Amino acid sequence: MLRRLHSEQPASFEFTPANLAWAEGQIAKYPEGRQQSAVIPLLWRAQEQEGWLTKPAIEYIADMLGMADIRVLEVATFYFMFQLQPVGSVAHIQVCGTTTCMICGSGDIISVCKEKIAPKPHMLSADGKFSWEEVECLGACANAPMAQIGKDYYEDLTAENFSKLLDDMAAGNVPVPGSQTGRYSSEPAGGPVVLAEYKGTGAQYNGSVQRAVDIGDGLKRIDGTEVPLLTPWISKGAGHGGAGKSVPKPAPTPKSAVQQAAEKKAAEKAEAPKAEAASVAVEVAEKKPRTMKAPRKAGADDLKKLKGVGPKLEQTLNELGFWHYDQVAKWTAEEIAWVDSRLKFKGRIERDGWIEQAKILAEGGETEFSKRAKY
Ligand code: FES
Repeated sequence: MLRRLHSEQPASFEFTPANLAWAEGQIAKYPEGRQQSAVIPLLWRAQEQEGWLTKPAIEYIADMLGMADIRVLEVATFYFMFQLQPVGSVAHIQVCGTTTCMICGSGDIISVCKEKIAPKPHMLSADGKFSWEEVECLGACANAPMAQIGKDYYEDLTAENFSKLLDDMAAGNVPVPGSQTGRYSSEPAGGPVVLAEYKGTGAQYNGSVQRAVDIGDGLKRIDGTEVPLLTPWISKGAGHGGAGKSVPKPAPTPKSAVQQAAEKKAAEKAEAPKAEAASVAVEVAEKKPRTMKAPRKAGADDLKKLKGVGPKLEQTLNELGFWHYDQVAKWTAEEIAWVDSRLKFKGRIERDGWIEQAKILAEGGETEFSKRAKY
């Protein structure tokens, strides 16, 4: 299969501050001169943040690791786990189509994908919320057919329960992963035939599902603040980082896990109207905002202080007649739609929260991004 960069690319990429700290923690695992060993985790985190791997992200990581862009591009195009085209804003569905899943009905699951998402893999659904692809065995054959959705496995799928899962996700929920037919784990569908006297721990879910439910970030784009993990190779307990097998378990307490699930739910609730607005924005009539032929006498604002605006995008905005934060801050939904349709990479305004950032900057404040951005 030919894997190449998507024809439409955003102007820039930046790790969020927390993801940057995490990435630096990963790089610190390797001895001097071997930093490029961190290329896969960094590409993966960039994908977790954006949903897919963009050309600016590949170049940004090449810069971070002191590698030639082409070397990082080689890695990104070699591994199929890296998505080189935009994926659904809610979820990218990876349906296993290998033998066991195929025998057990993955064809039905793929039919649902074709019907409810898009006729072809890697195409976005009409509302931009979903995309799908068929993948090779994901190692959950005992619970076939299955799909990986976000971080989690959804197993024992049928056309009906899978279709419901999609509706549930589209409504902003994160359905409980694991078996969708009530199996606790991968015991026989009719119940265990050995160790039948073993009653388990009495927990509602198996360990993997319980952990997923506690954290609740299965479908979320990762900004690095979700579950801080220790980086003991840097210092005792400082910073963020991935925990290897030998790393003492950082273990958020059950309380913090629950808190995080609650915080996630609250954040999702807060974001729901925003997501809704984004999808509605596609349909709202466009209205041209007030533009200016040139910046005011005091000079143009530095629009690159808005997260997601690089030099090229700033130039485009200037050409469209936008020079100042207060102009951006005043855009209505119709005006966002007008500007959006004139940007190469659509959806950026809503996704990166330009309006909120512009309001802060217009009042002389600083955003998290503007404080640390290098120009
Ligand atoms: S065949 Fe589908 S998970 Fe193994």
